[in-house]
Amino acid sequence: MSDPHADLKMLREDLKDELLAINNYQVHIDATDNEDIKKLLSHIRDEEKEHFAELVKLIRQLDPTEEELFQEEGM
Ligand SMILES: [Fe+2]
Repeated sequence: MSDPHADLKMLREDLKDELLAINNYQVHIDATDNEDIKKLLSHIRDEEKEHFAELVKLIRQLDPTEEELFQEEGM
């Protein structure tokens, strides 16, 4: 059985990578005038946003402190 703290650390690393991906796709979207590229990269960027949300949801399930703090923020 894996260490719960190690699992959460791994998920937070994945969360960071999703944010970096969102920002990188946005840079490329903004850098091109090609509408086909903009359309595809925007779609991929939005999928990364979904991945981010999925990871946050799982982290909240696995980390009671995180869940409590989200609830304090009304989220
Ligand atoms: Fe992703």
